[in-house]
Amino acid sequence: MKSPLKQGKTGVNILHISDIHFGARHWDGNNKMLLDKINSYPADLVINTGDNTSDGLESEYQQVGQFLKGITCENVISIIGNHDKRNMQAHEYFKEYIDNSETILPLKSELTTKKNLYLEQDITKTKSLFTDLNYIKLVTIDSMTVLVICIDSNILYQDEGFVEEEILKSISAKIKRMKYDKAILLIHHSILVGDITPLLNPLLLADFVNEHHIEDIFCGHTHRLTLRKSTDLYHHSSFTQYMVGSLSSSNRMGDDNMFLYLENWGTSELQIHLIRIHRDGDVLSFTEELIRKTGTR
Ligand SMILES: [Fe+2]
Repeated sequence: MKSPLKQGKTGVNILHISDIHFGARHWDGNNKMLLDKINSYPADLVINTGDNTSDGLESEYQQVGQFLKGITCENVISIIGNHDKRNMQAHEYFKEYIDNSETILPLKSELTTKKNLYLEQDITKTKSLFTDLNYIKLVTIDSMTVLVICIDSNILYQDEGFVEEEILKSISAKIKRMKYDKAILLIHHSILVGDITPLLNPLLLADFVNEHHIEDIFCGHTHRLTLRKSTDLYHHSSFTQYMVGSLSSSNRMGDDNMFLYLENWGTSELQIHLIRIHRDGDVLSFTEELIRKTGTR
């Protein structure tokens, strides 16, 4: 249920990072300098859209957990990616080192179709047999309450994405009872952009987004930047998808390491900044591009 925005709000500053890839794919760049740069932005909310590790190993989870603790923003919300789910303990490592929020369970478990959603008790010693990590959070910044819907689009052992319909139904039932001003969705795989390991059922997500009037989606996975708006002419609704490149996975010259900073999000004063990260040995430099200026549509 949406509540009217309170008077006097100034918008939310959102910083979006993705694909940190600690482990074999992590860059040789200076993580301390990177953290200092991230922390120089007055973000109200930092969003991290998955692939925190290279292979879902415990040592990689420990390293990324330490890195994320270095972000000074009060509200850091991370989701899991396909690289983070490459072994049957990975979902427990995520809970231990990154986020231990209560997981949303399917409405009817007997109707689920997602592969490897449940581990078999007689072959694994994991505490939790349910491998999907979906959760919702309410974040209040000044006078605006933002509902952050975190969807696990990853399949254990696989790189393609798939979203379980029974989990979406369960999330829908919960958020219909909640009060918030705006809702955003975090998902590792893109709804709008395909690649060699895409989300296999994107239309299911698009229907969910339309149903709940979600205007902004944040994702990663492809390591490419695309900012796209999609309009549903039949339902008279539209949403924007922010897909940011990798924060720290590439060691190539002229590489694609980057993050996004959305200033005054949720208002007509929105400004979108793209920060590209350049590495020369151990030294980092940054270039900033203003993608959307106040007053543009
Ligand atoms: Fe990925």
